[in-house]
Amino acid sequence: MTAELAVIVLAAGEGTRMKSARPKVLHEVAHRPMIAHVLAAVRELSPRRMLVVIAKDGEAVAAAAAPAESVVQSPALGTAHAVRTALATLGPFAGDVLVVYGDTPLLTAETLRALLVGRRRAVAAAVAVLGMRPADPGAYGRLVLAADGSLEAIVEAGDADAGQRKIGLCNSGVMAFEGALAPELVGAVRNANSKREFYLTDVVAIARGRGLLCRAIEAPAEELIGVNSRAELAVAEATLQQRLRARHMAAGVTLVDPTTVYFSADTLIGRDTVIEPSVVFGPGVRVGEGAEIRAFSHIMGAEIGDRVTVGPFARLRQGAKLGNEVRIGNFVEVKEARLGAGTRVNHLSYIGDSVVGSRVNIGAGTITCNFDGFVKSQTKIGDGAFIGSNSALVAPVSIGADAIVGAGSVIVEDVPAEALSVGRGKQVNKPGRARELRAAGARKKERSKA
Ligand code: UD1
Ligand code: CA
Repeated sequence: MTAELAVIVLAAGEGTRMKSARPKVLHEVAHRPMIAHVLAAVRELSPRRMLVVIAKDGEAVAAAAAPAESVVQSPALGTAHAVRTALATLGPFAGDVLVVYGDTPLLTAETLRALLVGRRRAVAAAVAVLGMRPADPGAYGRLVLAADGSLEAIVEAGDADAGQRKIGLCNSGVMAFEGALAPELVGAVRNANSKREFYLTDVVAIARGRGLLCRAIEAPAEELIGVNSRAELAVAEATLQQRLRARHMAAGVTLVDPTTVYFSADTLIGRDTVIEPSVVFGPGVRVGEGAEIRAFSHIMGAEIGDRVTVGPFARLRQGAKLGNEVRIGNFVEVKEARLGAGTRVNHLSYIGDSVVGSRVNIGAGTITCNFDGFVKSQTKIGDGAFIGSNSALVAPVSIGADAIVGAGSVIVEDVPAEALSVGRGKQVNKPGRARELRAAGARKKERSKA
């Protein structure tokens, strides 16, 4: 892109239709706030300035948008008013000014580029708008085209007549301006409409009135959906999940039943990893190559090495770090724990706040008791140790390398390397005592009947 670019992201609206205490643009799609999706797409264009328009109490939005600059719009009097506020901060700008809405999370950089190129095509337009044809035009503004195919006006659904409402070509909200003209065009917008708001969409008719050319560039509707309600949020989520599934498969990951696997926007998975059905990836997960994530596992904040097996029915939480060839089996939960290469925790365990070496075998039902009701403490297990089934390791405690812990132990003191430790009630066998007990019981029953 030759011309300089400034981008204005609108995020000051109340989002009342979400019925939420949280600002609309902070609602998440694939575990990333909508505004962060928009900014990620915008950043790929390497703009010289990025201005995010936020509400008076929009600190949380500003924080999510940082390091992009934020500009406060107060009160929020409409989309044109928001852009005017940002232009005042931007100052004179000779390049392209791109306006995007913070509630359009599925936008791609490729489509934004197509808009910028489209505006400059042949005779450059003063304003170019990304248009779309959604299945249900509903509340979207309609793009009214002139006979020569240029853009004549944008009519908001609430102000459209019956004929205009039938127009299938809709306003996505994404607009590119000739920077030098933007302040004048946006400044001329008035609020004479049903909502008494300053509509950015009016700039098209204003530009036309001054003999300037405007143009619509069409792009796929699924990418331009605006999220105003929880239902639309769910539609955006479904579309993004499809995109993420396709992306992982294209990168060499096998998804046995793609529609049942849910990714986060930041999930990283190496090639030849196989994901079985019904697996959920929360934020912050990195999986190596050739791993196997078996059915019904829930994973977040975890680093998983190469050729690791996880699940079925496993839960990896924040800070789980699994070395290569680790095996995590069914009903095992791992949190803030590092497990060295080749270590196995195959059944029904909780491993938390632990540092576990390599080639360790942790038997079924083992629990690291990391919390005493007041503070969390660490468990350390050395390389090659063997922890018998149903053991409770009461932290802080350390098990030395190659030590063996007998099944059913409650370990409250450190175990030296290569030691055998058994911490349980001693077993006593009394020969014939079971037979005697039964006979005594039978006599008692007889007496009670008499
Ligand atoms: C807007 C468009 C509509 C388009 C649709 C696409 C206008 C007038 N209408 O409608 O033509 O089809 O988007 O999704 O632009 N915002 C501010 N300050 C304000 C008002 C809004 O920053 O004073 C922000 C909102 O936070 C939001 C964006 O601008 O991110 C769009 O506002 P919203 O109220 O969602 O507009 P729509 O009614 O969806
Ligand atoms: Ca909207």
